Amino acid sequence: MRFSYVSHLYCPKCERTYDVDQIHQLCECGAPLLVAYDLESMRQEVKRDVLKEREANLWRYHELLPVKHPEHIVSLGEGMTPLVPMPRLGRNIGINSLYMKDEGVIPTGTFKARGAAVGVSKAKELGVKQLAMPTNGNAGAAWSLYAARAGIQATVVMPVDAPELMRKECAIAGAELYLVDGLINDAGQIVAKAIREYGWYDASTLKEPYRIEGKKTMGLEIAEQFSWRLPDVMLYPTGGGVGLIGIYKAIKELQALGWVDGRMPRLVAVQAEHCAPIVKAWNEKKRESKFWPNAHTVAFGINVPKALGDFLVLEAVYETDGCAIAVNDEAILAEQRTVAELEGAFICPEGAAAFAAARQLRESGWIRDGETVVVLNTGTGLKYADTVNVNPPVLEPGDQFPKEN
Ligand SMILES: Cc1ncc(COP(=O)(O)O)c(C=O)c1O
Ligand SMILES: [Zn+2]
Repeated sequence: MRFSYVSHLYCPKCERTYDVDQIHQLCECGAPLLVAYDLESMRQEVKRDVLKEREANLWRYHELLPVKHPEHIVSLGEGMTPLVPMPRLGRNIGINSLYMKDEGVIPTGTFKARGAAVGVSKAKELGVKQLAMPTNGNAGAAWSLYAARAGIQATVVMPVDAPELMRKECAIAGAELYLVDGLINDAGQIVAKAIREYGWYDASTLKEPYRIEGKKTMGLEIAEQFSWRLPDVMLYPTGGGVGLIGIYKAIKELQALGWVDGRMPRLVAVQAEHCAPIVKAWNEKKRESKFWPNAHTVAFGINVPKALGDFLVLEAVYETDGCAIAVNDEAILAEQRTVAELEGAFICPEGAAAFAAARQLRESGWIRDGETVVVLNTGTGLKYADTVNVNPPVLEPGDQFPKEN
């Protein structure tokens, strides 16, 4: 048994292959690279029962992760987040079997910890000393913190409009932080120039192949948590779409290993009304998206006007008979409140977008009676305190309780 069954990198567009022991960013053709594993050997040598004795974190799947030597693992204990039944919300929406995969309870407060843990660990294994990335906030925060733990210097560029807390996470970890008066794509252009100039490791979404491997563990965990029987539908708030691509990749790997049976879940890419390039492409039956002008939404993590991996997101949606759907900010904020009121979970607006989409797809009948549905809540609402307005009455010491009956 090997610690990792990683074999090589490959391009999903032109099929060129690359060595996994050297630093590679994009393929020569400009497409993102993906990680391949020797699933045939693994199928013979590793049985899924080995997991029973392992710790409850994402490294329990080390055979399906790209880090070859355990001493390079940089971990804060991330993974194996709860799969929470949502019975009261389910009744309210009309889905009897509704679950939330809750990424609000992972280090750094969002699922970005998964990509950062695996991405930074592999960067360390490859000898990286300095990395740079654009971010909408949460990824920059997670990568800054994990890079600090690895002794790697991080440079992060984020939009001025990103929630302020995320700047502080980068800053406290000692990252070099810059703000840009624009969107994540503008941050990306600045980072790309700096990388050409200084030779840093490019940790931008899908410009290194390993972040997606970390995010794929959400798919592995959901399968294991359902005792290897797959749910019918999974909804994911989609910006760059890495989580959705990762979950799709994870389930295909599990199928190749023979660890799961049954149909691939129908994958739903959820976007916001004013930033919905993938939804538009899906509606037009296209394989790639177009840049979305003037993008804006309260769900800041999914404010991505053009994703490098759009063709992979769309492939996952088409191949699984899934769909892409946009929800408006009003629905997002209303859903965030409903989830807290009915289930006691303070979720992030991105997660709330996915719940709002579940509601709409149930109403339209796309989600059918009796189906098992998993919504990915990608982070904690605590990171977005500003999305909630409260004006409680202020009492003076000694005041009577003002309740009227
Ligand atoms: C909380 C949250 N949810 C969802 C996303 C979208 O992630 P992805 O790039 O995988 O689409 C982000 C990205 O910043 C995020 O911060
Ligand atoms: Zn290629």
